[in-house]
Amino acid sequence: MKDTISIPGYTYGTNAMMRSPVTLADFELMKKSVLFGDEDVKYLRLSRDIVKDQVEAILDVWYGFVGSNPHLLASFTSKSDGKPLGDYLGAVRKRFGQWILDTAQAEYDQKWLDYQHEIGLRHHRTKKNRTDGAASTEIVPLRNLFLLVFPVTFTLKPFLAKKGHSAEDVEKMYAAWVKSCLLQVTLWSYPYVKDGDF
Ligand code: HEM
Repeated sequence: MKDTISIPGYTYGTNAMMRSPVTLADFELMKKSVLFGDEDVKYLRLSRDIVKDQVEAILDVWYGFVGSNPHLLASFTSKSDGKPLGDYLGAVRKRFGQWILDTAQAEYDQKWLDYQHEIGLRHHRTKKNRTDGAASTEIVPLRNLFLLVFPVTFTLKPFLAKKGHSAEDVEKMYAAWVKSCLLQVTLWSYPYVKDGDF
């Protein structure tokens, strides 16, 4: 059992999960499309010990980026008065921190796939706000989902370089993170795509 079960709303691996409509076999082919292989798993896992004690600093940078862009912050604001919802931001941040560790863990089993679907639903109107009971906007617009892969991974790079690894290793960890984020965001887009078109 994970020792992270105490994070509110973090339902990874529980039976509250709906089964992903994407199969593990589909996911294997998605990996091929983005040139994701065993070496990427190895470099993601190498990054785990590096990011582990830097999670809060990484989140400060990512939240700083979202917070300084009103069109992004909008997804965390009150539907009625447009003000940022501190409790909502804080609750999501805890799960975001765990996501960093899960991404570095790179364990692609059915439970992981099911939680990816859940994260997609939580960005989409199907489930946004439900987990934290937030009175926020209805949906994270799809147009920003993929675009955030660049700032998220580019700003992670200096953290990957902080523990004395070679430039080559840092480059390989960075590439693995980019690919993993692209795979994940693609899975998250499922509820946004017309039936039969994913
Ligand atoms: C690379 C792109 C992105 C990544 C890696 C990412 C990551 C995450 C993660 C890990 C969570 C928590 C999932 C959980 O509940 O366990 C989350 C939730 C959330 N994200 Fe994103 N996200 C991305 C793009 C965006 C964008 C562009 C926005 C809009 C500004 C956004 C707004 C939100 C919101 C509002 C939630 C809370 C959803 C809820 O109500 O449960 N995300 N995101």
